Amino acid sequence: MEIIRRKQLKEKPAAGTPLGFGHYFTDYMFTMKYTAEEGWHDAKIEPNEPKPFDLATSIFHYAQGIFEGMKAFRQPDGSIAVFRPDENWARMNRSATRMCIPNFPEDVAEEGLEELLKLDGGWIPTQPGTALYIRPTIVATRVMLGVHASTEYLFFIILSPVGSYYAHGLEPTKLIVEDHYTRATIGGTGEAKCLGNYAASMKAGEEAEEKGFDQVLWLDANEKKYVEEVGSMNMFFVIGGEVVTPALVGSILPGITRKSCIQVLKDKNIPVCERRISIDEVIAAQKNGTLDEAFGTGTAAVISPVGLIRYQGVDYAINGGKMGPITKMLYDTITGIQYGTAPDPYGWRKIVK
Ligand code: COI
Repeated sequence: MEIIRRKQLKEKPAAGTPLGFGHYFTDYMFTMKYTAEEGWHDAKIEPNEPKPFDLATSIFHYAQGIFEGMKAFRQPDGSIAVFRPDENWARMNRSATRMCIPNFPEDVAEEGLEELLKLDGGWIPTQPGTALYIRPTIVATRVMLGVHASTEYLFFIILSPVGSYYAHGLEPTKLIVEDHYTRATIGGTGEAKCLGNYAASMKAGEEAEEKGFDQVLWLDANEKKYVEEVGSMNMFFVIGGEVVTPALVGSILPGITRKSCIQVLKDKNIPVCERRISIDEVIAAQKNGTLDEAFGTGTAAVISPVGLIRYQGVDYAINGGKMGPITKMLYDTITGIQYGTAPDPYGWRKIVK
């Protein structure tokens, strides 16, 4: 793979700098182009520098674009591990199909990522709870204003050293149930990781933040009855000892951390069920004392305890606003595999060779 080197490397954030999420970017990026004539081609590593784009480029107008989120972790033996990248490539191609973007060669993307990580490995932060976030993205690059699928695309991977997704770290998050706006509908794009889903969620997110909440808990669009997801996390509830997570009905992102947690729970013989769950059932369980825990899962958010849910103007503090034992077990198990401090019976750590 072609590598174009920088003349001068960037300055990295000093050790101990609070990284936040998505504020710093590494020296290099991976890029690959698509044209109808040549297919995917010109895969290379190049300096991560701003790129000029014609303002009629279709991505700016109709958001025909998709992305993924993964993380790389420095292992105790000094090697670099990525958590289940094959799952992300497969999901990205499913998102591509939904958005009329030509499927890309997953082996080339993986090779590009590994080369990139080898070059930018010095950016992997080492403070507890930090990682190198990986953002693969595809955008439509044809210069035209007609509403048609583009015939040209840019695939890129950029890297960002990150800390906690939430400013308050592992402190339980506060969610407000959104019963006015909707995130996704059946037959829409909710299960694809496409750019527009996130743009569509911002109005509700801003209003929630103004009221002091971290995120919105979305309900289904048809009946405003069933819990869907949080936009940056899939949701889980522990009710009377059973772990329940909303079924993937077509409007929910099929999270890889979600899938991993379900596997861990099954293997530990903790009852876990994927089904539709109404907000009324969650609130009833809270009122009758059987809602033991609630948490969200995601690459950026990892396993985040939910300490408070507001619904119809009433605040419900879950598990006394503290992280519960199943949430803690999942957090320890998943992060133990990711950081290489625990065995990996599933082969989820992919070591960069
Ligand atoms: C992720 O968890 O990687 C996400 O993509 C969620 C959010 C940061 C957009």
